Amino acid sequence: MKTSGNTILVTGGGTGIGRELARRWHDLGNTVIVAGRSEASLAETAEGHANIHAMTLDVSDPADIERFAREIVARFPALNVLVNNAGIMHYEDVTTKRDLSDAEATVVTNLLGPIRLTDALVDHLKGRADAAIVNVTSGLAFVPMPKAATYSATKAAIHSYTISLRAKLEGQVEVIELAPPGVQTELTPGQSTREGYLPLDTFIDQVMAQFESGDPPAEVFVPNSLLLRNAEKEGRFEEALAMISRI
Ligand SMILES: NC(=O)c1ccc[n+]([C@@H]2O[C@H](COP(=O)([O-])OP(=O)(O)OC[C@H]3O[C@@H](n4cnc5c(N)ncnc54)[C@H](OP(=O)(O)O)[C@@H]3O)[C@@H](O)[C@H]2O)c1
Repeated sequence: MKTSGNTILVTGGGTGIGRELARRWHDLGNTVIVAGRSEASLAETAEGHANIHAMTLDVSDPADIERFAREIVARFPALNVLVNNAGIMHYEDVTTKRDLSDAEATVVTNLLGPIRLTDALVDHLKGRADAAIVNVTSGLAFVPMPKAATYSATKAAIHSYTISLRAKLEGQVEVIELAPPGVQTELTPGQSTREGYLPLDTFIDQVMAQFESGDPPAEVFVPNSLLLRNAEKEGRFEEALAMISRI
C-alpha cells in the first residue's frame, strides 16, 4: 500500500484506532473518508482536517451497506483503500443459557459487516490502481479470550477470510491484516484507562511505522500482538490462554 495519494475509507473512524489511523493517513497526504453510526464523533475526527470526510454507515445493516457503497463510489470515485475497522466487543458468560442478542450483534457487525462491505466494494477496488483492503482483526484471533468467546471467534474468522481474500485477489488488490493487541480505547467500558493495555498513541506509532515504510507486510502486527500470533508456534499456547483468561 502506498503511503500518500490514496483515497481511504476507514469504518469506525469516529473513535479509537480508526480515528487515529484516519488522522495519520490524512497528514501523510491521503484523502480519508471516516464512516460509522455517530455523526457527532465522525465530525469530531474530521474537524480541522481538510481532507477527512464523514459519511454515516451502519455495517450491521445490509441495506445501509449497499446504499453507502453506491454513495461513496459516486462521491469519491478515486476510492482505492478499504479499511474494515468498525467492531464491537462484549463480555459474555457461555456457561449458562442467556440472552444471545449481544453475541449475535457481534457476529453481524464484526464478521458479516466486513464480508458485506468488501463484497459491495470489491469490483470497484479491482478497477483502481494501488488498491488495498485492510482488515482489522485482533491478537484474540490467535488465542481467544474465554470471557469474550464470540468476539474472539469473529476475529479468528476474519483472519481466515483475509487469507482467502489475499489468495484470490493477488495481483489485483493488496490484502493486509492489522491485528491490534489490547489497546487503550473505549472498545469496552473503561478500557481507555485500563492498566496493561497499550496506550493508543504508542500503538498507532508502531502501526504507522509499518505503513509509512511504503511496503507494509501482509500481516501488520506489533510486539504485543505477536506474543499471541506466535504463541502456538512457539509452544506457549496454554500459557497464553491462561494469561488471557485471567484478564
Ligand atoms: N482496542 C483494542 O484493545 C482492540 C484490540 C484488538 C482489536 N481491536 C479492533 O479494533 C477495531 C477498532 O476498535 P477500537 O478499539 O478503536 O474501539 P472503538 O473506539 O469502540 O471503535 C469501534 C468503532 O466501530 C464503530 N462501529 C461499531 N459498530 C458499528 C456499526 N454497526 N456500523 C458502523 N460502525 C460501527 C464505532 O462507531 P459508532 O458506534 O459511531 O458506529 C466505533 O467508532 C475493532 O474492530 C476492534 O475489534 C481493538
